[in-house]
Amino acid sequence: MERKFNIWRGSAEKGEFKTYSIKLEQGMVVLDAIHRIQTEHSNDLAVRWNCKAGKCGSCSMEINGRPKLSCMTRMNEFAEDDIITIQPLKTFPIIKDLVTDVSWNYKQNKMIPPFKPRVKKNGKDHVMFQQDVVRRLQCFVRLQKCAVFTVVRRLQCLWNSQKTLVSRMLVLR
Ligand code: FES
Repeated sequence: MERKFNIWRGSAEKGEFKTYSIKLEQGMVVLDAIHRIQTEHSNDLAVRWNCKAGKCGSCSMEINGRPKLSCMTRMNEFAEDDIITIQPLKTFPIIKDLVTDVSWNYKQNKMIPPFKPRVKKNGKDHVMFQQDVVRRLQCFVRLQKCAVFTVVRRLQCLWNSQKTLVSRMLVLR
């Protein structure tokens, strides 16, 4: 299926939308489509991405006027006859095509003090506490798979159902 894309090409001072048409395959996201456009039509199209898993935010762009992560935006979200418009985020200065200057984010990040867990009075810090909780959870998960625990639980169920049966018989008398 052929799909049309209007993609911003150029810098902040000078640029225009260019139309590209590519064939899509099932399961593609917008970032895949952009990569295909790079491969088939315009290998100088600038786009930034890193994780392709919705974690880093570097593939952020405006897709049909809305800020989105292109690696997490599925092509099947759009109508088949939709022409998809892709442009850089308006919040940041454009460097080239879909790439913006996000250095402001890094400056802000440096201003955030690093997390230092408080040391508790008994000398154990938060990490130790979390490890303790994790250990207990792991023990509980193992218990669910433990054969002995399963047998005991089944015997309890049997005992409970027999108690119910006996009490019902008493009621019936
Ligand atoms: S590539 Fe990292 S969020 Fe899209």
